[in-house]
Amino acid sequence: MSRASLDKKPADVAAMFDGTAERYDLLNTLMTGGQDRRWRREVVRAVEARPGERILDLAAGTGTSSVPFAEAGAHTVACDFSLGMLRVGVRRQAGVRRLSFVAGDALRLPFADGVFDAVTISFGLRNVADTGQALRELRRVTRSGGRLLVCEVSHPPNGLLALGHRTHLKFGLPLLARVSSNPDSYRYLAESTLAWPDQAALARLLQDAGWGEVRWRDLTFGVAALHHAVNPG
Ligand SMILES: C[S@@+](CC[C@H](N)C(=O)[O-])C[C@H]1O[C@@H](n2cnc3c(N)ncnc32)[C@H](O)[C@@H]1O
Repeated sequence: MSRASLDKKPADVAAMFDGTAERYDLLNTLMTGGQDRRWRREVVRAVEARPGERILDLAAGTGTSSVPFAEAGAHTVACDFSLGMLRVGVRRQAGVRRLSFVAGDALRLPFADGVFDAVTISFGLRNVADTGQALRELRRVTRSGGRLLVCEVSHPPNGLLALGHRTHLKFGLPLLARVSSNPDSYRYLAESTLAWPDQAALARLLQDAGWGEVRWRDLTFGVAALHHAVNPG
């Protein structure tokens, strides 16, 4: 399997996800100790998808994060640049109505301006080579007054928990990597999380990209965070 590094070259990132596509959902649950399911429920609650709305789930992978929006009655586009992930998604979510899969790069989204009521990205932004450009593109395709939800791994603000979390990332995950059938994914998760901005720094990146009413909420003591914002138009 190809291994992405912190320069996040798009071809390496796409190849890494192509290579894990079949086992991605299981791997995700193993790497987060099952917390991913709880975090997904929080995202669904925060997005508040309504029937008839148009929702973009960017970096949607196999569409696991997109299905609840379609089931709530919203016309949902699951967009990703890994064709391997999209192929698995199209097969697995075949019966889901109002859900379409689109191949596209977060840095140059294949959508017109202002077409979505809400845009969301779960565990995807950290993998994109240029965070600011992805946030500007998300804003471009969102209508004025439309909302953004970013769910991403983060950093516990409490000193002791922060130390435990960093120790787990630096030593625990690499140990798991050694006994895992997918060591590169564990190593990449550890490295990319350690290098990822904390909650306040990500909020500033959202503001710099033109998003308004930026706020966030910690999930599982800040191991992950949910950032909300609104497109001021
Ligand atoms: C960890 S997965 C998350 C999938 C899904 N959102 C979920 O919650 O299960 C990250 C996804 O980001 C996608 N990705 C990374 N960079 C991207 C980019 N520049 N454009 C589109 N997708 C990208 C990868 O292909 C991968 O499917």
